[in-house]
Amino acid sequence: MTLWSGGRFDQEPSDVMWRFTVDTSDRRLLQVDIEGSLAHVAMLDRVGLLSSEEAEAITEGLVRIAGEAASGEFAWLAEDEDVHSAVERRLGELVGEVAGKLHTGRSRNDQVALDLRLYLRNAAKSHRDRIGRLIAVLVEQAKRAGMSVVPSYTHLQQAQAVPFAHHLLAYAWMLVRDADRFRDAYARFDVSPLGAGASGGSSLPLEPGVTSALLGMGGVFDNSMDAVASRDAAAEFVWCATQTMVDISRLAEDLLLWSSSEFGWVTFADEYTTGSSAMPHKKNADIAELVRGKTATLIGDLTSIAALQKGLPMTYNRDLQEDKRIVFHADDTLAGSLEALGGLIDTATFHPVAPEGWVTALDLAEALVARGVPFREAHHVVGRLVAELIGAGETFDDLTPDRLESLDLRFQPEDLDRLDPARSVELRSTQGGGSTASVDRQIDALEAMLEQW
Ligand code: ARG
Repeated sequence: MTLWSGGRFDQEPSDVMWRFTVDTSDRRLLQVDIEGSLAHVAMLDRVGLLSSEEAEAITEGLVRIAGEAASGEFAWLAEDEDVHSAVERRLGELVGEVAGKLHTGRSRNDQVALDLRLYLRNAAKSHRDRIGRLIAVLVEQAKRAGMSVVPSYTHLQQAQAVPFAHHLLAYAWMLVRDADRFRDAYARFDVSPLGAGASGGSSLPLEPGVTSALLGMGGVFDNSMDAVASRDAAAEFVWCATQTMVDISRLAEDLLLWSSSEFGWVTFADEYTTGSSAMPHKKNADIAELVRGKTATLIGDLTSIAALQKGLPMTYNRDLQEDKRIVFHADDTLAGSLEALGGLIDTATFHPVAPEGWVTALDLAEALVARGVPFREAHHVVGRLVAELIGAGETFDDLTPDRLESLDLRFQPEDLDRLDPARSVELRSTQGGGSTASVDRQIDALEAMLEQW
């Protein structure tokens, strides 16, 4: 029995057609589908399209189905074309003929669009929470890092000395924006398409505003065709997820670099790493590698969801059924990645190595700039010095006040202090810069933010 059996169709669907067109992945929408139907029934009752007895019977049936869904007892049948048909079929089993009134004034086109939006709302909220937890882990490790100083890198060459905490917190701020994106997108997910019907609305006295309000949604569609045809909400969700994955993929890459023997900045907990089947000494951070690898699949999702919409004639087309697999994959992958990476970082021991060499060269040049020397000239003076020291096999450690002064009379003996990476970090004062004071401010700001998350 299909939803259309006994009407204009004389034949039952072929197995081939059924196998190809049915996608059971939408079973994940069961709870939100019931939630949407409960609101729909309440609206039908309110506008008089259902008698209160009918509404009560349907509601009771739906509540029972919700119970079966929650306990995992809901029984799917091979003949259920999708989640919507399954619920209607089960409702019929439970309450009889009155179940046929559930779909009054509704099409699966506006129904699935609603389910998806309800799903996206929940998912966006959960990701915000997960991202918040990862930020908290980074802040905690930044606090533990205390005063340790590392080189920042540009072009993967040592650039300036910075507190290690500053490096960790860079990711925290990226994640704050990722979480903000989910929150901003939430407002656009939060619009109900129910009442749009198949594509043109209905002659029945439906009140879409009532269903929307009952579902706690922020608004209703303005155009029924747009409401059933559009999947930009799904695409925006996948974009938010993809950018978050891209950000944590960079974090994963840094962690992997730091865990190499060449860097030696971090040791991961045994419980968050894997061994090698062949090399007894190996301890691999597979979580970080998989976060990086899975990011590729999210980028694929983003391409898929964009391509899925491109060139579709208005309005609903079955192509759109594919949106769910994409959304679910992006959702699950991001959820798993945030959780696993959080565990890896939380249990890691960081022992970053202080920079050696030239990372304070800019600080030395700035000593001259502060005394009015044009930056280009100061850059040149320090550049010559570096070349000279390298030529002689020496480092900044070999500099004496006299030698500094002989280079340029505007140098002062205390400028040598700036060559100590820890000291150079102390001397830095710019807003958001790589200084201890800035790190303290960032930690305070992030902690205040997390308290209200
Ligand atoms: N399973 C369908 C989907 O996910 C539900 C909507 C079906 N609508 C239709 N007119 N066949 O898109």
